[in-house]
Amino acid sequence: MDKFIIKGGKNLSGCVEISGAKNAILPIMAASLLTKGKSVLHNVPHLNDIKMMAHVLRVIGARIDFEGETMEIDATHASFCEAPYELVSKMRASIYVMGPLLARFGSAKVSFPGGCAIGTRPVDLHLMAMEALNAEITIEHGYVLAKTKKLKGGNITFPKVSVGATANALMAAVLAKGETNIYNAAIEPEIGSLIDFLNLMGANIKGKNTDHLQIAGVKELHPAEMTMIPDRIEAGTFVIAGAITKSPITIKNCVPEHIQILLEKLKETGCEFEISEDSIKVIPAENILPTDIQTQPYPLFPTDLQAQFLALMTLAEGTSRIEDTIFPDRFMHVAELNRLDADIMMNKNAATINGVKSLSGAEVMATDLRASAALVLAGLAASGQTTISRIYHIDRGYERIEEKLKKLGADIKRIKG
Ligand code: EPU
Repeated sequence: MDKFIIKGGKNLSGCVEISGAKNAILPIMAASLLTKGKSVLHNVPHLNDIKMMAHVLRVIGARIDFEGETMEIDATHASFCEAPYELVSKMRASIYVMGPLLARFGSAKVSFPGGCAIGTRPVDLHLMAMEALNAEITIEHGYVLAKTKKLKGGNITFPKVSVGATANALMAAVLAKGETNIYNAAIEPEIGSLIDFLNLMGANIKGKNTDHLQIAGVKELHPAEMTMIPDRIEAGTFVIAGAITKSPITIKNCVPEHIQILLEKLKETGCEFEISEDSIKVIPAENILPTDIQTQPYPLFPTDLQAQFLALMTLAEGTSRIEDTIFPDRFMHVAELNRLDADIMMNKNAATINGVKSLSGAEVMATDLRASAALVLAGLAASGQTTISRIYHIDRGYERIEEKLKKLGADIKRIKG
């Protein structure tokens, strides 16, 4: 297993370019299964989760060519309606094939995702949505079996906001007979981008960026070509890199509006920004002020930036509180940050962080994707050397992060395992 060795305390400068958004691309790849023919996706980064989804689609029978940043998905010969345990257990997002397979073939067999480092993460809302669209669900031997003679439009009211269940419901409803209404839908930019792709395929979805989506089912879809949106979580991570290392770096190829809440919170810590349509320049604070956050669905503070923001708060002048209401157990990074001399205490789903004057390098272990990013940020600010093991987690969702950081002047090295 690869490791990162970071010699902290360096000032960063220059620009970093943001890659395409993993969490927007994964459902769009699955949506390509909805029709015969070749869909083309641009601005696709080489991430392990994306390669894993490509593998899931290949098992189903799709042909995938991935060169440079362009991915072609030809689902003409897709026929095997199954996502097996070996793949789903490695990547939960494999469940995204359920909606498209049901819609196109009337059947899907998807392994129940197992445990996950950030919490229990049930899939009941995905199943509820499929049932509302006339699918019959049974559970056998660790697999969800979904079947239908024909999906029919229906009303789906989600009791809580779910990005994944909204995406699956959309992908099933586009080919259902009649109209579907989704209430309390997720409004994350990744859902907006899936709606754009489905509408390019010939679907009829109204209500983008609102929590009420109306879908008029169509008889068939056709392949589409689209450029993927920039990754707001990668952008946010680099903005925090500027803040924590007190460096005036510029984040390019991003959509500042997608991380407005992060920028507002960072302003409370003393940071300023120069913002254009697609770039953010960080004007860092000399002294980092404490502030509290609570994660919530978009447009409020994203759980996917909680760990990174927490890393920043370890160096604030005072006490801050960070609560995660989406994934209450997503705090594995806390024990690791404390190994770097941070002072963090946990109480249920909230961390109280007493800011310290400095962090000091140590050996730490990455436990999940965003936790790894938090450790990298802390390592950049810590004095001395930080060694982060199990960085395969970070390769799931950050493209060449060490190269991007090195270009900004960081002293970070990947040691091959
Ligand atoms: N939930 C249920 N039942 C369900 C589905 C979700 O109770 O059937 C709960 C979850 O346990 C959680 C809440 O609903 O408490 C929201 O979960 P959601 O379904 O929105 O999460 P997800 O679709 O599984 C996506 C991202 C996550 C991100 C969350 C929240 C992808 C592939 N994953 O997960 O990203 O944290 O939305 O924004 O899009 C990451 O990139 O590091 C990551 C974990």
